[in-house]
Amino acid sequence: MNILVINGSPRKNGNTETMSDTFLEAARENGHTTKKINLYTTKVNPCLGCDYCHSHGSACVQKDGMDDIYRAMDQADLVVFASPLYSCGLSAQMVAVLNRFYSRVHTVGFHSLSSALFIVSGGPTIITSEIIARFKKMAENNNLPRNVGMFGSGEPAVGESTHINSAAVDQYRKVAKINRFADLGVFEIGGMRAKGDMKNSPELQKIRDFAHSL
Ligand SMILES: Cc1cc2nc3c(=O)[nH]c(=O)nc-3n(C[C@H](O)[C@H](O)[C@H](O)COP(=O)(O)O)c2cc1C
Repeated sequence: MNILVINGSPRKNGNTETMSDTFLEAARENGHTTKKINLYTTKVNPCLGCDYCHSHGSACVQKDGMDDIYRAMDQADLVVFASPLYSCGLSAQMVAVLNRFYSRVHTVGFHSLSSALFIVSGGPTIITSEIIARFKKMAENNNLPRNVGMFGSGEPAVGESTHINSAAVDQYRKVAKINRFADLGVFEIGGMRAKGDMKNSPELQKIRDFAHSL
């Protein structure tokens, strides 16, 4: 199959790119054809909301990296949206791509396409009240105000937990549904605080397993 990864990290060779490359390498081992588009070089502007596309057969007034993305998606069987978690959501670069799908939503649509989401966060994927308590202690010990360094996804009550990626996953799933992509799953790797952390993550195995399952 033809597999396309759209890497939504603005950081070249960052954790999201390592996750994407690991996946693509494993996919090639299984005989698949692969392509990666990095949104740090392929620039996509935000949608202008002008509605030109809806009266012009999906054509957009903006000529930018979205043309390459559509071309690649039209040839792909599977598109993987890979994004770092930014402010509890997808990166702005990735959101711009999803917003631009608006030009196709009520016009020409997409051909039959599967999709998946890769999401990389600095914090752990599941934040428990114990983790928050540990962070508060750390802040206290370092004489930082109590709100410095907290995870942005809200503080779970004692004994409860919160899924740090929930907003990003929800947006991806709804966009997949609207555009009639067959969702093959969401793959999350948390705790990737510094550039390069992903290289040593044992969790990359689940990405290789996903590629080998295709
Ligand atoms: C602007 C910005 C916002 C971020 N917001 C979050 C966040 O809300 N939650 C979190 O766990 N990590 C957050 N992070 C950390 C990144 O998700 C993490 O460092 C990730 O590994 C970056 O991936 P990259 O190396 O591919 O760019 C943020 C990082 C940046 C630069």
